[in-house]
Amino acid sequence: MTSLVVRHISELTTNDARVGDLSMMGRLHDAAMVVDGGRVAWVGFDSDAPACDEMLDANDGAVVPGFVDSHTHLVFAGERSDEFEARMAGARYDGGGIARTVDATRATTRSRLAELSRRRLDELRAGGVTTVEIKSGYELTVEGEVRLLDVANELSDEVTFLGAHVVPREYANDRDGYVSLVAGEMLERCAPLAKWADVFCDEGAFSVDEARVILTAARAKGLDVRLHANQLGESGGVALGVELDVASVDHCTHFCDADVDALATSQTVATLLPGAEFCTRSAYPSARRLLDRGVCVALATDCNPGTSYVTSMAFVIALGVREMGMTTDEALWAATFAGSVALRRSDVGRLGVGARADYVVLDAPRAAHLAYRPGGQLVRSTHRAEDAREA
Ligand code: NIG
Ligand code: FE
Repeated sequence: MTSLVVRHISELTTNDARVGDLSMMGRLHDAAMVVDGGRVAWVGFDSDAPACDEMLDANDGAVVPGFVDSHTHLVFAGERSDEFEARMAGARYDGGGIARTVDATRATTRSRLAELSRRRLDELRAGGVTTVEIKSGYELTVEGEVRLLDVANELSDEVTFLGAHVVPREYANDRDGYVSLVAGEMLERCAPLAKWADVFCDEGAFSVDEARVILTAARAKGLDVRLHANQLGESGGVALGVELDVASVDHCTHFCDADVDALATSQTVATLLPGAEFCTRSAYPSARRLLDRGVCVALATDCNPGTSYVTSMAFVIALGVREMGMTTDEALWAATFAGSVALRRSDVGRLGVGARADYVVLDAPRAAHLAYRPGGQLVRSTHRAEDAREA
């Protein structure tokens, strides 16, 4: 295994409070970083950098941990730009369009689905994402959900069974039957292919009681659980998520004081998905209100064809800063470290010694440029430890 030293880093963010300025960003200036065996082996001043087999010149760019995108729906076919256009002209999002993506996805071959999903993953990677969670949820049949999870497994280890996305058309008059299918045969077949189970708990999707049944069954099958909560209204999803100690409640577009209190005393992350507010022209939730109470807030893309056809974590960071009251550092931390907490991982989202060497070299001297220069191509290169091992 060859060792690599990354030299001439103008600003290194490690998210390790034992390093550099001892803040939660663990920041060093004029820094270098050594990678060995796919792990960070040393960080320090550039002037102290040890000799290694290879050298990567950051060229006075900033280096940050690779982004952890803890919420995507990458495996789908088709697009729904007509719905986006209608929303920009005043229509409201109600989840109804999911059925159109289900139709398009069911009608697409596995190899085409894999190709489409791979291209989206390439876009995420080019934007600095090194860990990505991928959900099923656009077939809603036993064989179809198995197929989507199979494709997702080719792309990531963080795979989520979302058979409970919406009740499909064929079960419109038998929602209890669909909940039983999801918590029964579908789960039985899908559990071996997933790490996580998720439910869209909201108006027009699944109720709190239905979500409780499905997540409890999933946990009994050995899956870890997470939840789409409070996107369309105060559905009670956040409270349920805390009650079940889910890793993350996602969206949280709406929440009340009791939700904030519950989150503040829990291990559950609030994952905000401002791409969805952007693409549905909805009011953004206040990350500030959550952060001020000590809630762990993550940011993710929610990449999907309906509410957030977004593949740029830099854009999400900029929205977090501009629209949700986050500081530039809080948003970066939310897109890296907090994303890892939302996936209950301690090896990614940070660059302290021993962490996986998943990192991004920016074409900018400071990480703050991610929000300061929205829309720019600021990611110069994305590095994943697996790639390093293969090299
Ligand atoms: O996270 N909220 C549920 N699922 C997706 C949207 C799905 C769609 O509209 O296709 C979301 O926003
Ligand atoms: Fe989602």
